[in-house]
Amino acid sequence: METLRHIVVFVHLIGFGTLFGAWAYQAFAGDRRFVKIMDYGLAIAGLAGLILAAPWGLAEGAEMNYAKIGTKLVVLLAIGAMLGIGSARQKRGETVAPAVFWLVGILTLVNAGIAVIWR
Ligand code: HEM
Repeated sequence: METLRHIVVFVHLIGFGTLFGAWAYQAFAGDRRFVKIMDYGLAIAGLAGLILAAPWGLAEGAEMNYAKIGTKLVVLLAIGAMLGIGSARQKRGETVAPAVFWLVGILTLVNAGIAVIWR
């Protein structure tokens, strides 16, 4: 079970990498638009995160930190909202507001930071 949990963490990381990688590519290219693969990365990270939020396959003596998990869920919803707002504007032929674009990258890093720093 512990190995299975590690595999889900691995899938969770693939989601994180996909979302942040796509965002970093766009930011570095100076092309501040959202692309579909960001949604997929968020969905993979979110789904795997929810599976990890249940107390199964934990190592002996390990406990869940529900305050941390709840915070990550709120941040995930905020990222989803930003992607939704930006994508809707793009569909209307408008540009994504700079704050909305930057928030997606920053909040993604915040969630990764919470995951590794908050113990
Ligand atoms: C964009 C959103 C997210 C990002 C970028 C992200 C990032 C990460 C990263 C980098 C790790 C690996 C940490 C480690 O192994 O030390 C991790 C682990 C984990 N994440 Fe997420 N995460 C996100 C969303 C979520 C959500 C929505 C949940 C739950 C509702 C969640 C729950 C967990 C859990 C339970 C772990 C297992 C290790 C731990 O206790 O931190 N994550 N996350």
